[in-house]
Amino acid sequence: MDSIAIQGGPLLNGTIPISGAKNSALKLMVASILTDQPLLLTNMPRLADTKFLGRLLRQHGVEVTERDGADGQETLFHAPEITSTFAPYELVRQMRASFNVLGPLLARTGHAKVSLPGGCTIGARPVDLHLQALTALGAAIELDEGYVSAMAPKGLRGAEIEFPFVSVGATEHTLLAAVLAQGTTVLRRAAMEPEIGDLARCLTAMGARIEGIDTDVLTIHGVTSLTGATWSVIPDRIEMGSYAVAAAMAGGEVRLTRARAGLMTALTDKMIAAGVEVEPTDDGVIVRRDPKQRLRAVDVTTEVYPGFATDLQAQFMTLMTVAEGDSVIRENIFENRFMHAPELARLGADISVHAGEALVKGVEALQGAPVMATDLRASVSLVIAGLVATGETTVGRVYHLDRGFERLEEKLTACGAQIRRIKDEGDEH
Ligand code: EPZ
Repeated sequence: MDSIAIQGGPLLNGTIPISGAKNSALKLMVASILTDQPLLLTNMPRLADTKFLGRLLRQHGVEVTERDGADGQETLFHAPEITSTFAPYELVRQMRASFNVLGPLLARTGHAKVSLPGGCTIGARPVDLHLQALTALGAAIELDEGYVSAMAPKGLRGAEIEFPFVSVGATEHTLLAAVLAQGTTVLRRAAMEPEIGDLARCLTAMGARIEGIDTDVLTIHGVTSLTGATWSVIPDRIEMGSYAVAAAMAGGEVRLTRARAGLMTALTDKMIAAGVEVEPTDDGVIVRRDPKQRLRAVDVTTEVYPGFATDLQAQFMTLMTVAEGDSVIRENIFENRFMHAPELARLGADISVHAGEALVKGVEALQGAPVMATDLRASVSLVIAGLVATGETTVGRVYHLDRGFERLEEKLTACGAQIRRIKDEGDEH
């Protein structure tokens, strides 16, 4: 398996272009199942996760063509015919978002058999809300030997659905199915993450009729068919936030471009409180920190959007490891998302975890050491720690990082970081 080696010390100065959002791209790709016409996604990130999903879509009959367009990378998806409605365990287990093919396959063909995704390192992550919502839309669902078989031979029907709590995946999945249902669907307590707004707007460009976009009540008037469209993937607010924290950690001045500062105000408010300068620009944000001044400790609690994102919790905890004072980091979304804490402790951080809460006592400095990535956002937090740890930090199991960060070493090197990938020639990831 590849690893990444970082020599701590250099300030970060320069410009980092932000890629299209992984968590939007994955759902937009799935939308291609809903139409027999081409869907062109521009500003497409090239990531391990988008590759995985492309492989799954191909076996359902979607033609997937990656190419360079006028505005960077783009991918054309075209499903003239659905050739298989079966999604095998081998493909779904590699990435949970694959499960979201179930609703669109069902909406387009009336049946589908999709593997359950299983748990993952950050928590159990069941899909009960997804299945309840599809059942409410009229699907007959059976669970058998790890697979979900769903039937709706006469098509899905609109329904009133109130989610018991907010789920990004269940909101997106239900939206993807309801656009082709007969009649009106109302989704209450819908998630409001910007990636859901992006999906809803793309579906609207494809002919769907959706009201309440960006609110927690979505009203979907079903249509009989959707058309193709050209859609630019929203900037990745988690990539943007990760580099913002990296700049704050290392010190210096970094301009993040092709981005939107408004998508990460919950993070930047906390960064400002910690003593970082944040200046929104027309196409992103400038992050500045004087390395001579120590950061202040700030508490953070993860919440659904527009609250502080769980996907930025590990990065912010890393920043707090070297702040002056104690900070309390509460994780409200996933039950097991502190696996980075013991790895940060290997670098000299002082963190104690009790249930869903971590107490971080700021230390003067971190020291480089070999550490192990446990999930995608934990991996980037270890890279960020490596930027200031004395000596060399090597981050193992980098395939986690490749799932969601495009050309990370290149983007950081351009700003002066000393970071390199150590290739494992026998690596299949
Ligand atoms: C999405 O996951 C993201 N993934 C996650 O990003 C992100 O952390 C999460 O939303 C929260 O923002 C993608 O978009 C591909 P949820 P998702 O449904 O949809 C529980 C990353 O690093 N739940 O909002 O799975 C669930 O277990 C990833 O890019 C149920 O109990 O998140 C969790 O505790 C990691 N039953 C909570 O709800 C269900 O049916 C929120 O999950 C569904 C969810």
